[in-house]
Amino acid sequence: MIRAARGTYDILPRDSGLWHAIESHMREVFASYAFSEIRTPIFEATELFVRSVGTDTDIVSKEMYTFIDKDETTSLTLRPEGTAPVVRSFIENHLADESRMAKLFYMGPMFRRERPQKGRFRQFCQAGAEVFSLTDNPAIEAEVVEMLMVLFGRLGVSNLDLLVNSIGCQDCRPAFVERLKGEIEAKASSLCGDCRRRGQANPLRVFDCKVPSCQDLIAALPAITDSLCNTCRDHFAKFCGYLDDRKIAYRIEKRMVRGLDYYMRTTIEIVSGDLGAQDTLVGGGRYDGLFEDLDGPPMKGFGFAMGLERLILAIPEPEKLFAGPGPDYFLATIGDEAFTYATLLAQKLRSRNRVVYLDFDARSLKSQMRLAGKLAAKKVIIMGEDETRSGKLTVRDMNSREQKEMTAEEFFRAVDAVDRGADPDLAEKL
Ligand code: HAM
Repeated sequence: MIRAARGTYDILPRDSGLWHAIESHMREVFASYAFSEIRTPIFEATELFVRSVGTDTDIVSKEMYTFIDKDETTSLTLRPEGTAPVVRSFIENHLADESRMAKLFYMGPMFRRERPQKGRFRQFCQAGAEVFSLTDNPAIEAEVVEMLMVLFGRLGVSNLDLLVNSIGCQDCRPAFVERLKGEIEAKASSLCGDCRRRGQANPLRVFDCKVPSCQDLIAALPAITDSLCNTCRDHFAKFCGYLDDRKIAYRIEKRMVRGLDYYMRTTIEIVSGDLGAQDTLVGGGRYDGLFEDLDGPPMKGFGFAMGLERLILAIPEPEKLFAGPGPDYFLATIGDEAFTYATLLAQKLRSRNRVVYLDFDARSLKSQMRLAGKLAAKKVIIMGEDETRSGKLTVRDMNSREQKEMTAEEFFRAVDAVDRGADPDLAEKL
């Protein structure tokens, strides 16, 4: 038997209703904050991620699915994240409009060759939102965080912690990084190989180390948050103030540096107490230099992405989010004539947006009823030879088990009455 590739999974029919429900809540919430959807390709030039996410990050150095195209020269990569592709598309399609900011969201699969575990996959689905603007107003950041909180409220997700930090800018970060480099070098002999290497190449990455024996030494390293320039300190204070205004609780996490190189100033993470080891549900931050790094206009950016698999794990009562998957009507027929009649009835019902299941297997009425129960059909319409000839149907409500005989005209009058606003329970019961 051929199985799904390691770190991938199928969304089965029984679960797809939940995915749709979550996606439609997201679309509604994002739209209410005036975000529009953007869809970018699943693979991009490898250089896009090398230049944006950064060579020394885990994503670029070990997790990308990269391949040389059949022309033997073009290096392509399955997108490991969505921010760089959205910025690339924005620049390429000249979407910058000086009179307003752009608010974009996306949903779709991302690919990282990580070690699979609960909440961590090699193909996973991210939903993200990005705001591009000419100013770096921290009120934008607070509004985006507010939007996330509204979404989580709708989905019933609680037990969350919002972690915030500032990692400085091109003015204050270089001096701090030099200082950090020196301190890491001084402790190098007691640190793990990864930390020693990162200490040279990209010292901030040292804070991502999970090796237990490094933790005490890392905790004693200086935090960038304490070395911010005045502009960054002011920006961060304003962001925190805007969160306070909105009564959004947060914790300043001075060692949170995020795993991608494009960030500057504000960074955020939302962690969930219900997720186990992979507890980061949302990651995001400001990336004002990214546009210029990708040869674009001098625009500023702020955004986030969240993993939908982790989000689903954090939803306490997913079954409350979507109506049962059962069809509105199961058409049970006895004999060829009734079946032909049922196909016409099904057409008429479907044109009125009813979900109809028509059984093709000519089984006994008893086993059709059993199947209707299995499929959780809300109503069954029973049509035998006699009924078909006399233009009658029997409608059975699977919940109340009430059964009623009526003409097709009477039935459709009731269906149409529901569409005009009549109470479905009363009208479709007749
Ligand atoms: P990230 O922190 O790399 O940020 O990923 C964001 C979220 O994607 C994580 O918090 C997690 O929920 C989910 N995620 C990441 N890797 C996996 C995986 N292997 N399996 C399952 N879920 C995963 C970014 O991707 C940035 N582009 C976020 C951003 C947008 N920053 C600014 N704008």
